[in-house]
Amino acid sequence: MEVKRVEIQNILITGRIYQEMAQILLKEKIDKDFRFVSENEVSLDDLLWADAYVGFCPTENFQFGNMKWVHSLGAGVDRFLFNREWKEDVLLTRTVCSFGQKISEYCLSYILRDLQGHDVYAWYQSKRQWKQVVPKPIQEQNIVVYGTGAVGQEVAKNLFSLGVKPIGVSRSGAAKPYFSEVVPVSRAADVMVKADWVINTLPLTKETYKFFDDEFFYRLQNAGFINVGRGATVDDEALLNALEKRYVRLAVLDVFTKEPLAIDSPLWQHPNVIITPHISALTSPKEAVQCFLTTLKHIEENKPIVNKVDVLKGY
Ligand code: GLV
Repeated sequence: MEVKRVEIQNILITGRIYQEMAQILLKEKIDKDFRFVSENEVSLDDLLWADAYVGFCPTENFQFGNMKWVHSLGAGVDRFLFNREWKEDVLLTRTVCSFGQKISEYCLSYILRDLQGHDVYAWYQSKRQWKQVVPKPIQEQNIVVYGTGAVGQEVAKNLFSLGVKPIGVSRSGAAKPYFSEVVPVSRAADVMVKADWVINTLPLTKETYKFFDDEFFYRLQNAGFINVGRGATVDDEALLNALEKRYVRLAVLDVFTKEPLAIDSPLWQHPNVIITPHISALTSPKEAVQCFLTTLKHIEENKPIVNKVDVLKGY
């Protein structure tokens, strides 16, 4: 069967890093027409001109026009797909680069901080007290990773290298490298009771919206919960309740249903909540350009596109 070649000439680049991307791309002397525009200045003319749209999210005035390709500068594509209509014949791709490594370092930093008692020792130091509290080895921790995709697998790999036997939870339960086992969501209850930590790397889709609810948290016993997936996969009320009841001992949250987190959110002041402003895996301009150019090349040469999004699944 002959596959139709996608012709891309006019490329609209927007989003927080559009200027840095322009600097790198213009040096590369690529035989394409580019427009680099900040998100709030993208005009209807820009959108109708573009064959390809590159950005973190659709602009407010977004429309598909003649676009054949949309490339997300983030790994998550919910801003393009969740509660939105997608035009069937438009290819959607996402940036895949060192996110998994960055997210692993983020998770490890908070897990080790906890196991090594950094806060406890800072407190004793401030009191000039010499007191030993035995650090806990990470190998002895049961760590459950929700999502066994590119990010989840990298997290598992890094944990594994430190002697952890990570358990994965996914839709299918298909085995993946570095996980001692992967269970389907329907069997997750069995592994949750033993969890010292739960790391959420799930994308936001219709199925994962408020997935971490009362019923989920109720199964935990004093566990750490790290959210590096998407905020709206968590029911915030249920999380607060779980913190109160000690099902969750510590929550490390990098993503929130609404970002920035509202100033009056009770999460800010909660003694057992650590908040970071969606920084666990920021896209760097260099990696963004690299992934964009590789994807463009694969499209033009009709090669398999590994970072193509399944718009029906939503990730
Ligand atoms: C960040 O959250 C991303 O989607 O890459």
